[in-house]
Amino acid sequence: MALGLRFFVIALAASSTLTAAVLQSYDYIVIGAGTAGATIAARIVEDPSVTVAVLEASDSSAENNPLAFIPGADTISIGSSPLDTVSYDWNFVTIPQTGAANRKMHYARGKGIGGTLQHNFMIYQRPTSDSFSYWINATNGTDFLPGWSWNDVYPYFIKSIILSPPDNSLHRAAATLKYNSIPAAYPETDNTKVPLPIGFANFAFEYSATLQSAFNELQYPNALDFSSSTLNGVQYDTSTLDHSNGHCSSSQYFINNAQKLSNLHIITNTMAQKINFDSNKTAISVTYTSLLSTVMINVTREVIVSAGVFQSPQLLMLSGIGPSAQLQKFNIPVLVDLPGVGQNLQDHVFFSPGYEINPSIYQFGHETQILNLLVADFLGWQKLNETFISTKPELSVLSTYPPLWPHIEYISAGGLIGKFTDLLVANAAPALINKFYYLLLGALVAPQSRRSVTLASNSASTLPVIDLQQTKQFQLRCSGRSAEFSIPLHLCRSEITARNSSQSTDAQLLSVIQNSLQSVWHASCTCAMQPRSNNGVLDPYLRAYGVNGVHVVDASSFPSLLPGHPQSVVYMLAERAAVMRPLTG
Ligand SMILES: Cc1cc2nc3c(=O)[nH]c(=O)nc-3n(C[C@H](O)[C@H](O)[C@H](O)COP(=O)(O)OP(=O)(O)OC[C@H]3O[C@@H](n4cnc5c(N)ncnc54)[C@H](O)[C@@H]3O)c2cc1C
Ligand SMILES: *[C@@H]1O[C@H](CO)[C@@H](O)[C@H](O)[C@H]1NC(C)=O
Ligand SMILES: *[C@@H]1O[C@H](CO)[C@@H](O)[C@H](O)[C@H]1NC(C)=O
Ligand SMILES: *[C@@H]1O[C@H](CO)[C@@H](O)[C@H](O)[C@H]1NC(C)=O
Ligand SMILES: *[C@@H]1O[C@H](CO)[C@@H](O)[C@H](O)[C@H]1NC(C)=O
Ligand SMILES: *[C@@H]1O[C@H](CO)[C@@H](O)[C@H](O)[C@H]1NC(C)=O
Ligand SMILES: *[C@@H]1O[C@H](CO)[C@@H](O)[C@H](O)[C@H]1NC(C)=O
Repeated sequence: MALGLRFFVIALAASSTLTAAVLQSYDYIVIGAGTAGATIAARIVEDPSVTVAVLEASDSSAENNPLAFIPGADTISIGSSPLDTVSYDWNFVTIPQTGAANRKMHYARGKGIGGTLQHNFMIYQRPTSDSFSYWINATNGTDFLPGWSWNDVYPYFIKSIILSPPDNSLHRAAATLKYNSIPAAYPETDNTKVPLPIGFANFAFEYSATLQSAFNELQYPNALDFSSSTLNGVQYDTSTLDHSNGHCSSSQYFINNAQKLSNLHIITNTMAQKINFDSNKTAISVTYTSLLSTVMINVTREVIVSAGVFQSPQLLMLSGIGPSAQLQKFNIPVLVDLPGVGQNLQDHVFFSPGYEINPSIYQFGHETQILNLLVADFLGWQKLNETFISTKPELSVLSTYPPLWPHIEYISAGGLIGKFTDLLVANAAPALINKFYYLLLGALVAPQSRRSVTLASNSASTLPVIDLQQTKQFQLRCSGRSAEFSIPLHLCRSEITARNSSQSTDAQLLSVIQNSLQSVWHASCTCAMQPRSNNGVLDPYLRAYGVNGVHVVDASSFPSLLPGHPQSVVYMLAERAAVMRPLTG
C-alpha cells in the first residue's frame, strides 16, 4: 500500500477509536471487545511496557446503549423470531432446526464493547467445583501446567468481582433476601482493582417468595449462594448489577478502569478478517476492514481471538486453521488441518408454560411488566435422583456426571414467554389489558447434543452457518427417546395437559415443547481446549495447535459447557489467560 494511502487509512481508522492514534504494530492484538476480550485487554495493559490493540466490529457499547444498561431491557430483541433484532445484535439465524419444529431461530449475540453482555439476564453464579473434572480430563490430567481444577481456577473467579449486599429495606418482608455473609465467595473489597460490581435486585418479586415456600414444601433446601462450589436448592441470585447507578455491569467496566492508560487502543467499527503468519507459522499481523478500507497491523507477541462462540472459529478458519475440506471449499489455503474448529458446540435449552396471576396480590402495581420480564431474580437447581433415573433407560447417561452437577435449573421470571418468538410483543399486549403472568423456566443443564459452526463464505463479513454438520439440524435432542425430551416431559406434562386436555400423548407434548423451546444462549466449546488427538483446538494454555502466537479466549475455548450461566466462567478464563500470557509468550 502506498504510504499516502496508508496514512489516510490510519487516519480514518483513528476516527473511530476511543483513544488517540492507531499504531502500525502492537505487542498484542485482541479480536473482539466482548465479555472476554474487554477483560483480557484491560488486564494485559496493566503492564505499562506493552501495547494492546482491540479490534471490535461495532461502536455500540454496554454503557452508551440504554437498551443494554437498563436491567430488563434484555427482553427486547432476543426472541427466536429473526425479526426480533436490533442494530447491536449480529442477527444470527440458525438453519431450520428439526429438533425445534423446523424453526429458523434467531440466536442473540451482541456486537460492540461488552459484546453479548449488551443482551443479558445478568445472572452471576459459578459452576459446581466437581464439574471442572470435565476440564481436567479434557486437558489430559493435571500433569499439565496450568491445571484447570476448581482450586486452580477459583482465584480467578473471585478476582473480577466486588459484591454489594442486598438492601432488604427496599423489599417487602415476604421477599427478604438472605445471602452468604461469610464472604469466601466474594472476598474482594478494593474497587480500584476489581472492576465488576455485582449485587442483588432492589426489586425482589414477591412471587419468588411464594415460589420459595413451594420449593421448600417439596423438600428443596434454601441455598446461601450459588458461587461457592455447589448448586443445590433455591435462592435469590446475584446479578451483574451496579448499585451505584442501577445499571447492568459488564466487561466495559474493565475498559473504563484501563481507559486512562495510553497503551490500550480500542479500534471500533473494524472487522478482523484474518490473521497472517510467517513461514514458521508465527502470527505476524492481522488484516481488518473498516468502512472504506482494508488495513494490516503488525503484532509482535500474540493475537488473542475473543470474537465469541460463532466468530472465533470462523476467524481461525479464515486464517487457514480448521477442517481442511471446509477451508478448501472456500479456497482458503490450509495452514493447519485442525478438524475440531467449529465442532463440539454445546448449549443449554429451556422451556416454560406461563401462568396468569392476579397483580393485586403481588408487587406489580408500580412496575411495568415489560421491564421486569426476565429480571430473573430467583434460581433453583435439582439433581434427579438415582431411583428416578434408573426407571428410564434414556436417562442413564446422567449417572455419568460428577455428584454435584445438577440436571435441571429453575429460573423464575415475571412475564409470558409464549413461543419465545418476541418477548416484547408477547407481553405488551396482555399488559395493556392488565393481564400479568409469571413463569418458572426449566433449563436442561446436562445436555448431550453437540452441534457445529461452519463457514458460509471466505469473508468475516458473512455470518457463519450455525448448523449440525451434514444433517442440518440444530440437534436440540428433543426426539422421542432422548434424555432431553424425557426431562421436559417430566417437568411439564401435567402443566401442558391441564391447560389443554387434548395435549396429552407423548407426541402432542413433544410438539408443544419443540415449538416453544429456546436456547439459553449459552453456546460454547467451538474451539475446545482439548488434546489435539481428541478433536481439540487449544492446548491447556489456550494456544491454537499448529501455529505460534494465537490464543483463543472466550466461551468458544471451554472444553465442555458447565452447569449454569457462563459469564462467570468467561471472566475467569480471561483473568487467567491474562496472567499466564507473559509466562508462556
Ligand atoms: C439473551 C442472553 C442472555 C444471557 N444471559 C446470561 C446471564 O444471565 N448470565 C450469564 O452468565 N450469561 C448469560 N448469557 C451468556 C453470556 O452473555 C455469553 O456466554 C458471554 O457474554 C459470551 O462472551 P464471549 O466473550 O465469549 O463473547 P461476546 O461477548 O459475544 O464477544 C464477542 C465480541 O467479538 C466481536 N467480534 C466478533 N467477530 C469479530 C470480528 N471479526 N472482528 C472484530 N470483532 C468481532 C463481537 O462484536 C463481540 O463484541 C446470555 C446471553 C444472551 C444472548
Ligand atoms: C510490519 O511487518 C512487515 C512484514 O513483516 C514489515 O515489513 C514492516 O516493517 C512492519 N511494520 C512495522 C511498523 O513494524
Ligand atoms: C476423569 O477421568 C478419570 C480417570 O480416567 C475418571 O475416573 C473420571 O470419571 C473422569 N471424569 C469425568 C468427569 O469424565
Ligand atoms: C523460522 O525459524 C528458524 C529457526 O528458528 C529461523 O532460523 C528463521 O529465521 C525463522 N524464520 C522467520 C521468517 O522468522
Ligand atoms: C425421586 O424423584 C422422583 C421424580 O422427581 C420423585 O417422584 C421421588 O419421590 C424421588 N424419590 C426420592 C427417594 O427422593
Ligand atoms: C389444544 O391442543 C390441540 C392438539 O395439539 C390443538 O389442536 C388445539 O389448537 C389446542 N387448543 C388450544 C386452545 O390451544
Ligand atoms: C495424555 O497425556 C499422556 C501423558 O503425557 C499421553 O501419553 C497421551 O497421549 C495424552 N492423551 C491425549 C489424548 O493427548
